[in-house]
Amino acid sequence: MGRVLWVCVTVILLGNLMTSREPETRDNVSIQIINFNFERTHVKWNVSEYLAEKNLTFFYGLDKASPSQQCSHYTFDHGYTAGCLFKAGDNRLTFLLKREEDEVFERRNVRLSRYLKPSSPTNVSFTWREDSVTVTCSDLPISGLTYEIQHKSIFDQKWLPNTNTICNITIDGLDSEKCYFFRARVITRMAIYGSKTYPSDWSTVTHWRRNKLEDSCTDIIKTPSPKYVYIITSLVVFLMVLLLLLFLRKSA
Ligand SMILES: *[C@@H]1O[C@H](CO)[C@@H](O)[C@H](O)[C@H]1NC(C)=O
Ligand SMILES: *[C@@H]1O[C@H](CO)[C@@H](O)[C@H](O)[C@H]1NC(C)=O
Ligand SMILES: *[C@@H]1O[C@H](CO)[C@@H](O)[C@H](O)[C@H]1NC(C)=O
Ligand SMILES: *[C@@H]1O[C@H](CO)[C@@H](O)[C@H](O)[C@H]1NC(C)=O
Ligand SMILES: *[C@@H]1O[C@H](CO)[C@@H](O)[C@H](O)[C@H]1NC(C)=O
Repeated sequence: MGRVLWVCVTVILLGNLMTSREPETRDNVSIQIINFNFERTHVKWNVSEYLAEKNLTFFYGLDKASPSQQCSHYTFDHGYTAGCLFKAGDNRLTFLLKREEDEVFERRNVRLSRYLKPSSPTNVSFTWREDSVTVTCSDLPISGLTYEIQHKSIFDQKWLPNTNTICNITIDGLDSEKCYFFRARVITRMAIYGSKTYPSDWSTVTHWRRNKLEDSCTDIIKTPSPKYVYIITSLVVFLMVLLLLLFLRKSA
């Protein structure tokens, strides 16, 4: 049973690795779709040499509509059309790419939720207690999301993640002497959106020592101060003199 489960998990993980965010290639065209927060959609294409140095035109239709609407906002690469940006949220999309009158690529009934990229968290705020912090941000009006806060000190190699289904996450066991980096993002849940979605961009990194916001966390590795070195040196010299005196007294 355990083994079967393990195999299933492995298959799911591998499947995820293989399908995740790979542009789809067909008929000399490769396509990438990004749906920004159910507000705007960007369809991007790369073409093989066969179609290079040609302006492709993009036609689309939402939900049941046929792809009759011409793109009104192209994005360009080296002066040629390379993408189209348009308003579309949780819709189905049918689109086609044409070179002059020839159709070079078509896709029907794409569920745009499969390509969701949520907005990055806004209004991120920190409430400190002794050795814990609660990080909150504004929840997006979209279900099926997970909020992720990562933190690390300069002694940590890796970012440490904490997640929750609402943006209210408490992180315990922090050292009040240490300065920590924090960053936040929003990810989609695989069970709801599948594996081709994108995480949001990271929020800007902030630095905190206890409940104080700092500009950076660079000042932590302490070199012993000159005063410290002086005291230790004096102590060592003092001990050596003492030992010498004892030795002299014994041998006298
Ligand atoms: C793809 O490119 C090849 C040449 O590299 C061409 O013969 C073929 O017709 C192209 N296919 C499409 C659908 O444009
Ligand atoms: C197009 O090619 C660039 C560079 O090779 C790559 O980064 C990008 O993901 C490709 N986009 C698509 C839609 O295939
Ligand atoms: C492609 O479209 C762009 C923008 O409309 C235009 O500047 C460029 O000259 C076009 N290239 C060709 C080969 O038609
Ligand atoms: C930011 O958070 C505060 C409370 O934490 C809330 O009153 C305010 O409306 C939020 N602003 C936005 C833009 O969500
Ligand atoms: C976060 O959760 C805690 C306890 O679960 C609650 O006391 C607090 O009011 C919440 N904060 C926000 C901003 O929702």
